[in-house]
Amino acid sequence: MSDVPFLQVDNLSKHFRGLKAVDEVTFQVDRGEFLGIIGPNGAGKTTLFNLITGFLKPTSGRIHFRGKDITGMKPHDRVKIGIARTFQVTKPFKKFTAIENVVISALIARKHGKIREHERDFAMEVLEKVNLAHRKDTLAENLPHGEVKKLEIARALATKPELLLLDEPFSGLTGEEVESLQEVIKSIHEDGITVILIEHVLKACMALSERIIVLNYGKIIADGTPQQVCMDRQVIEAYLGKRGLEFASG
Ligand SMILES: Nc1ncnc2c1ncn2[C@@H]1O[C@H](COP(=O)(O)OP(=O)(O)O)[C@@H](O)[C@H]1O
Ligand SMILES: [Mg+2]
Repeated sequence: MSDVPFLQVDNLSKHFRGLKAVDEVTFQVDRGEFLGIIGPNGAGKTTLFNLITGFLKPTSGRIHFRGKDITGMKPHDRVKIGIARTFQVTKPFKKFTAIENVVISALIARKHGKIREHERDFAMEVLEKVNLAHRKDTLAENLPHGEVKKLEIARALATKPELLLLDEPFSGLTGEEVESLQEVIKSIHEDGITVILIEHVLKACMALSERIIVLNYGKIIADGTPQQVCMDRQVIEAYLGKRGLEFASG
């Protein structure tokens, strides 16, 4: 057993002019964990993802991944060591088919453009993982919203991540689409991938997450099991309201 944490975030801050979007945040994630991150709009959730993935440089603080200090690493190099993310606003290549989108992601992650024989087989496996195999030849722009969300996850999976960061994958989905995507995400986690999920669709987030961190004004105000955070007075006041008690009582 190694004592090195899988992901370690220490005193991480990001200021935009005077605004402390992420304010002295410290937490660890174990390999194989499923961590949910919730909190009001503007709490700093997406900014935290941007710091972990290298899209933003922190004002202060450090990030370690499997013991390595990655604080100054470029996003692309973080992808190569196993960190992948999806975006709150999806950005597939619209004029490419589903399978082409996955192949492109795999190639970009490996940084060479040579299409190998098995590339499409691998892309098909990934599409099957997210239940999109039947859509392989559909242009991304013609997919319904729920399937665009799945394609976004497929593109992240194509980089073979160990840590997958999902930014509001359930937003804008119908009840049926939420259930279907929830199964997909559960099965990805069961494959051994560590998942951090930002989500406002609380039912799905509570069902999937083993542990939840609540952010408010850039600070962690609670960190515990779904049950614990739902009953937390600060969390109820800042974010959940009466919903907290409903979730806590199942
Ligand atoms: N690039 C940026 N420049 C200036 N302010 C930003 C930038 N990105 C985010 N913010 C601000 O930081 C705060 C946190 O935003 P964000 O991380 O997107 O919140 P969340 O994802 O929790 O809704 C918000 O007040 C937002 O307006
Ligand atoms: Mg956000």
